[in-house]
Amino acid sequence: MSQRTTEGSRSGETPVIELRHVEKHFGDLHVLRDVSLSVHRGEVVVVIGPSGSGKSTMCRAINRLETIDSGEILIEGEPLPQEGRELARMRAELGMVFQQFNLFSHMSVLDNVTLGPRDVLGLSREEAESRAMELLARVGVAEQAHKVPAQLSGGQQQRAAIARSLAMRPKAMMFDEPTSALDPEMINEVLDVMVELARGGMTMVVVTHEMSFARRVADRVVFMADGQIMEEGAPDAFFDHPRTQRARDFLDSIRGH
Ligand SMILES: Nc1ncnc2c1ncn2[C@@H]1O[C@H](COP(=O)(O)OP(=O)(O)OP(=O)(O)O)[C@@H](O)[C@H]1O
Ligand SMILES: [Mg+2]
Repeated sequence: MSQRTTEGSRSGETPVIELRHVEKHFGDLHVLRDVSLSVHRGEVVVVIGPSGSGKSTMCRAINRLETIDSGEILIEGEPLPQEGRELARMRAELGMVFQQFNLFSHMSVLDNVTLGPRDVLGLSREEAESRAMELLARVGVAEQAHKVPAQLSGGQQQRAAIARSLAMRPKAMMFDEPTSALDPEMINEVLDVMVELARGGMTMVVVTHEMSFARRVADRVVFMADGQIMEEGAPDAFFDHPRTQRARDFLDSIRGH
């Protein structure tokens, strides 16, 4: 069953995100090898794997921040446009939160969250601000709305970055190690926001080494190594009974054996 990569359990439904046989090289380095993955509506897929296995490249390719050599990437069944306004629109439909909080440093948190909705969605300032304040409250940083990012803790900045992505009403959210640059005491406040999002039915792709989060929240765990999806499965099955030696070795290494 290790090749059950394209057929999700709900095969009648168009996946929100679908990769078909995606290949990518950086020069001689083969970073994505025949990667096929379907993410269905409301599904939370956690991607784990050793450093350099291609997790970030896959996320960036989904958002077309990276080109691919061959294969297809479909969002709700449509291929990603190459460029232009259509690409900007599709990109806005996929929220992305990175390890490094990428808020604009010279703008208030509120302006960070209202910028996209005003520029791309065409919301008025009033509409954008009232929605931004709702979202900032939801992630617990409403009181920081008028500060600039540097005045916030890392955990607060990352929660504000999540609010900023949500303000674009994304079809899916991608998280690339959103807690790995945070001090330990701030990790849970960010994970809690992600847990709530998942409970609310958001479609999510999450690259993380937070195993307790993966067990608790993931519908499916995808294990990557050397640019390939080596195995995938339900979190308990994967963590308790990994099928490949590669996954066993990786799990041992992160559990500190
Ligand atoms: N812009 C680039 N140019 C050349 N090589 C790159 C580039 N970006 C990534 N790579 C290489 O591609 C491979 C996959 O990198 P990627 O960042 O996707 O891995 P990752 O699984 O996200 O790793 P990590 O867990 O360390 O974040 C690595 O060998 C990396 O060095
Ligand atoms: Mg990475």
